Amino acid sequence: MKAIQISSGIYSIHADIDDKNALFEGFWPLPYGVTLNSYIVQGEKTCLIDLFKEWSDSLAQYEEQLISIGVKLEDIDCVVLNHLEPDHTDYLRELRRRNPKVQIISTEKGVAMLQKFFGISENLRSVKTGDTLDLGGRTLTFYETPNVHWPETMMTFDNESEILFSCDGFGSYGSLGEKVFDDEFSAEEHLKFEKECLRYYSNIVASFSPFVKKAVEKLADLKIKVVAPSHGIIWRSEPKKVIERYLRYAGYNTPGSGQDQGSSLEKEICIVWSSMYGYTKKGLDAVIEGIKEIGVPFSIHQLPQTNFSFVLADALKSAGLVIAMPTYEYKMFPPMAHFIDLCGRKHITGKKVLRIGSWGWVGGAKKEYETSTAALNWEQGAQIEWQGIPSEETLKILKEQGKDLALKIKNS
Ligand code: FEO
Repeated sequence: MKAIQISSGIYSIHADIDDKNALFEGFWPLPYGVTLNSYIVQGEKTCLIDLFKEWSDSLAQYEEQLISIGVKLEDIDCVVLNHLEPDHTDYLRELRRRNPKVQIISTEKGVAMLQKFFGISENLRSVKTGDTLDLGGRTLTFYETPNVHWPETMMTFDNESEILFSCDGFGSYGSLGEKVFDDEFSAEEHLKFEKECLRYYSNIVASFSPFVKKAVEKLADLKIKVVAPSHGIIWRSEPKKVIERYLRYAGYNTPGSGQDQGSSLEKEICIVWSSMYGYTKKGLDAVIEGIKEIGVPFSIHQLPQTNFSFVLADALKSAGLVIAMPTYEYKMFPPMAHFIDLCGRKHITGKKVLRIGSWGWVGGAKKEYETSTAALNWEQGAQIEWQGIPSEETLKILKEQGKDLALKIKNS
């Protein structure tokens, strides 16, 4: 793998993590891999922007690319750390071992974290929005973008090439291979990346949607020619596309007020279901019949068979939710309880919801469900419960409820 030139004196270096057992943040599956992008920016001085962590064979990939452009670690003058999460900073220990004089630049909060994370107290510079770094022949400007993803996060702009180094922001799951630019991928590949982008956003960024909007506002006056994130595709042909995509995603759980309320949500329904013996599933089939009659698109995920990471992506974007689960020992079916807990943590808010499910000897899911979803701003429709196998009468009601929810979504 070779380093790729983005502009005169600017190179992308990336490590593809293609280990199918790898988990992002130790939690989220990566069936299509992920990249860790870093950038070399050369003026009279040489600067590295964001690093990587040793993961799979990332170290070998990274060092091979540095060698391919003739950059030695010992020659790097400064390193800009837009974000302190270890997927972008872990390599700092090796870099400092081989080049103890390297200057490290981050926000004030980032510098404080560096001291705590790595015990570093020398050659640090803290920067704030508008501060610059003169590399000799080119100047970098810094923009604090807190909470995209951690509180210390910033983005870096190269004024000469008009490249924005955005770290987690505008990033995606999915490894890149030999191609890195948006115009190098086919429509089919873009479709895959877009799905992985939404999944990444729902897993990693969704909790911070208001801050995504603020960051985009802050950058609005910049003429951005290239968006270069630290995960995923580098956008040189259509940089606006990924910025607008992120704004759309941010709107999924931070709707505007008044008439804009919820308007950015997709007119789709995300069905999340669990069933112990097929009795809840039988009831769900009637709901699906009703949804199909109205013709609203839907996604469907069974728990625990589907990883929560994928369910969150569809749940975030969809205006409607169907939660189908049996009562389990007086409470919610445990995998569904976990999903609803994740909805709270990831701010999956503002949905129109239908909840259904069967119970064996006594109910109980309803009470726990109502408590667990109280803070989610979900517009709760009917909650239909039944004992054992749903009767013909119950199935008719369930079909009507499916139609009712679908109509609400269609007309929203
Ligand atoms: Fe890619 Fe928040 O680290």
